[in-house]
Amino acid sequence: MRTPIVAANWKMHKTVKEAADYFRRLLELVPARPPVELVIFPPATILWMAQKHLGGSAVAWGAQDAYPEPQGAFTGEISVVQIADLGAKYLICGHSERRHIFQEDDRLVGRKVGAALESGLIPILCVGERLEEREAGRAWQVVEGQLAAALAELELPSPAKLVIAYEPVWAIGTGVPARPEDAQEMAARIRDWLRERFGKAGAQVRIQYGGSVKPENAREFLTLPDIDGALVGGASLDPDKFWAIAQAATS
Ligand code: PGA
Repeated sequence: MRTPIVAANWKMHKTVKEAADYFRRLLELVPARPPVELVIFPPATILWMAQKHLGGSAVAWGAQDAYPEPQGAFTGEISVVQIADLGAKYLICGHSERRHIFQEDDRLVGRKVGAALESGLIPILCVGERLEEREAGRAWQVVEGQLAAALAELELPSPAKLVIAYEPVWAIGTGVPARPEDAQEMAARIRDWLRERFGKAGAQVRIQYGGSVKPENAREFLTLPDIDGALVGGASLDPDKFWAIAQAATS
């Protein structure tokens, strides 16, 4: 049984006051034992508040990025250990905005995945092709390359220790999601790859879809056989919309 995992990636949004209002509203909506796992990824400045507001609730939190060393002379960076110290459960690794705006390569993404696990965080590894790669028929080749590079060194003790987010780059923040059948086809291939690489545990790893998910289309993705949740950007900034999306995972 793979419990759906629906996550809010706030990206570089929300002040302290806006975050407090969001957490209050979300906790009014979410029951004590929701049927889906909910995770909020606020900016690093808000992580301490997530701990204060969400601690003891059914809503988990995590960081959008972290540096893979425990400490050291890395001006401007925040370490996996510091993130874990704030009660975070998850770490997004290799989001396409990190890969493309900040030139993160597969090797660095792989180090982040490993460091997250060592610090007790669960990595959400983001993979996905660009539009020109899909149009050239290379979508799977690109995704497979990202999986292989980031997970090369990994040992997977349990399927709960890893989440994959399939996020086609051209669907992120554009309002144009993938076609559900394409998302399903890619998720099924990712699952086969994980089974081959990690055996039985690999086949049970949860796979999210991300890219322009909103309340109106969430059901189309969250009911697909190999999609176990969503990584939501824009629509997750409103707690009511985020909860509506999460509910679609079990309706
Ligand atoms: P979006 O972002 O929902 O705004 O398309 C998704 C993501 O970047 O994870």
